[in-house]
Amino acid sequence: MVTPSSVVYGDATMADASPHNTYFNGLRNALDKAGVAWPSVVIDRARMRRNAVRLKALIAPGTRLRLVEKSLPVPALLEDAMQLTGTRALMVFHEPQLRQVVQWFPDSDLLMGKPMPVRAAWHFYQHLSHTAFDPARQLQWLIDTPARLQEYLELACNLGIKLRINFEIDVGLHRGGAANPAALCVMLDQLRGVPKHLEFSGLMGYDAHVGKLPALLESRNTSFSKAVDAYRSFQAVVRDEYSELVSAVCWNGAGSPTIVLHRHNSPLNEVSAGSVLLKPLEFDIDLLSDFEPAVFVSTPVLKAQDGTRLPGPGWISKLLYGRRAHRARSYFIYGGGWPAEAVSPPGLVPNKYFGLSFNQSILNGTRKYSLAVNDTVFFRPYQSEGTLLHYGPVRIFDDGCMVDEWLPFGEV
Ligand SMILES: Cc1ncc(COP(=O)(O)O)c(C=O)c1O
Repeated sequence: MVTPSSVVYGDATMADASPHNTYFNGLRNALDKAGVAWPSVVIDRARMRRNAVRLKALIAPGTRLRLVEKSLPVPALLEDAMQLTGTRALMVFHEPQLRQVVQWFPDSDLLMGKPMPVRAAWHFYQHLSHTAFDPARQLQWLIDTPARLQEYLELACNLGIKLRINFEIDVGLHRGGAANPAALCVMLDQLRGVPKHLEFSGLMGYDAHVGKLPALLESRNTSFSKAVDAYRSFQAVVRDEYSELVSAVCWNGAGSPTIVLHRHNSPLNEVSAGSVLLKPLEFDIDLLSDFEPAVFVSTPVLKAQDGTRLPGPGWISKLLYGRRAHRARSYFIYGGGWPAEAVSPPGLVPNKYFGLSFNQSILNGTRKYSLAVNDTVFFRPYQSEGTLLHYGPVRIFDDGCMVDEWLPFGEV
């Protein structure tokens, strides 16, 4: 089994004359060879591909995997991941990305992951051009309230089209959607009356709250079984009272944190996950311990100094930092202020008194893992969705080299 610490920090073998272990030293050498000397996102393709194979193996027979596009917003990455996991189903969260996804993947099957303002849906239809993608068959809009359903009905009438409607259900996260089966029935009654324009396509819940509460308040098992009961009660009302609408419906749910739990006896016929393929920092949970971190932010060290000196009287810095081993060195790095944690070399910490900078930020470190100017610092981002879009081409590392550059989706 691969544990987070053994993966991130490697086998503790430090590379010769380097503050990095063998793994990060390999990444650093590859970046140097490729001449990448500015903040960059690096994906370890071999790790990502192993994660994809692991994810596929977790999907129960008869269940479909839907990859969460916002967590992997890079066309080449999505294509690789779709091929390895054997799915063409994606969950999309952003209208500009939706327009790009239908161009890149005209054979995909799309479910919106959040209720979009109706004007965004209108914009999508106005700008849908030259693609084999057929929204009437391949796209489900997500609806959370009767008011939004009414707006989408008006959109469908105005455009003279039929929309596929998936209802958001609250299975315990309390982020909106139908709060209970009665609230769902209000929307299903509305929909039932306008079969020419609206077609029921399924229900979508998200149970990321499972396992997040302190165990003393509610154990993971309890919150998971409550979520499962909620999924089932919403589905039961559809089956019992709207049976004419139930043909080939999509019962979507899960998410990376609970994908392992939905392996057996799940009420879902479709599970969503994305982040686990790259395993950013927030996904270091016991359920995902078999998965390997595959995304990093790298940046060069611009300045390396002994000690830590704040502006102002020298005695303040002495008082705060004198004899503190983890403040023995100061580095000013290229960029910073990212939602990420420095992971290599070990022991790097931010300095809250020096303040935040997106241009040159400070890190403090120990003498044991000392960096020099032009060395590289590696971070692990907390999430992939906030990271992959903001550093230009994503650098693809495989077999000791940078083998490719993948452009993320743009803001179009
Ligand atoms: C509706 C929904 N489903 C699933 C996911 C899971 O995505 P990931 O696996 O990338 O955490 C998310 C993430 O935000 C979500 O909002």
